[in-house]
Amino acid sequence: MTTGSRFCVAPMMDWTDRHDRYFLRLISARARLYTEMVTTGALLHGAAARFLAFHPAEHPVALQLGGCDPTALAECAAMAEAWGYDEVNLNVGCPSDRVQNARFGACLMAEPELVARCTRAMGEVSRLPVTVKCRIGIDAMDEEADFRRFVDTVADQGGVGTFIVHARKAWLQGLSPKQNREVPPLRYDRVYRLKQDRPELEVVLNGGLSDLETAEAQLAHVDGVMLGRAAYQDPWLLSQVDDRFFGSKAPPPDRLAVLDALAEYAAAEVARGVPLKAIARHTLGLFNGLAGARAWRRVLSQRMRAPDAGPEVFAEAAAEVTGALARRAAA
Ligand SMILES: Cc1cc2nc3c(=O)[nH]c(=O)nc-3n(C[C@H](O)[C@H](O)[C@H](O)COP(=O)(O)O)c2cc1C
Repeated sequence: MTTGSRFCVAPMMDWTDRHDRYFLRLISARARLYTEMVTTGALLHGAAARFLAFHPAEHPVALQLGGCDPTALAECAAMAEAWGYDEVNLNVGCPSDRVQNARFGACLMAEPELVARCTRAMGEVSRLPVTVKCRIGIDAMDEEADFRRFVDTVADQGGVGTFIVHARKAWLQGLSPKQNREVPPLRYDRVYRLKQDRPELEVVLNGGLSDLETAEAQLAHVDGVMLGRAAYQDPWLLSQVDDRFFGSKAPPPDRLAVLDALAEYAAAEVARGVPLKAIARHTLGLFNGLAGARAWRRVLSQRMRAPDAGPEVFAEAAAEVTGALARRAAA
């Protein structure tokens, strides 16, 4: 095992930004967090600090890169190390048109030799683990043998020891990215067999895992699991992760304590000019499943939009939840 990836939260554009990761870290100390995908172009020709800055509390945190040029990816991997990331991951799973036009993401599954050159170049300049997040196939290239040729090439020529596999193929024409996360069937069996046949590789299963029971059961077959939508939409799911996946004996977190800590973080961020909404929007699902969930979402989404909204909004919205819970208990 190279990266301790028993439980990971997936990279998700617009969702797993640094504020979301800080919030999730308040709920689980151990889950491995991934950034949104950042393209090499954005890092090398844009405001790199805007994409790379993160809070020290976020560790362990992995930077996900999008690109297909070995030299550019190597430069970005060196930046990942310099900024203190724990891992650098290459995106070989995104099917969006924009990404395809730039010849990276999922379409790279058809070019394992190029991916291997990229990851080798990244590994040569950085001591960080270089990992790959991929699919099990694309378009007509969806036989198990195609998937295995990809992994074998990238592992053997590219030096990659960890593969995070979204266990469905991607259709590069005709399906939107959202449909490509739902329509092609899940094939966990292919990921299990990869681990069976190449036990020295660290294999992390991703796709369609929506509760901790199912996720934990995967550990009989693979080294780790990665949850995306479920972890974002129902963040409190992470509150049992340290105990169940990492054997932590620390007391479980408490929602109101998490909110107090987040309010403290938000006070500092708002003082630096960050709108409260940029932080608060990630917490809309915090009370899912409780009597006050709707009140929380309603009050928070109204108040976080005000231009002068500050961290007090969390306490105000939480008071509505506490009220709803008390009314439910008294009824
Ligand atoms: C809003 C959104 C944005 C995503 N952005 C990325 C991304 O930047 N990089 C990536 O590798 N996958 C991205 N994905 C895919 C997820 O990482 C994950 O592979 C997929 O959602 C399947 O896992 P799940 O069923 O647990 O959600 C994104 C998914 C969603 C829902």
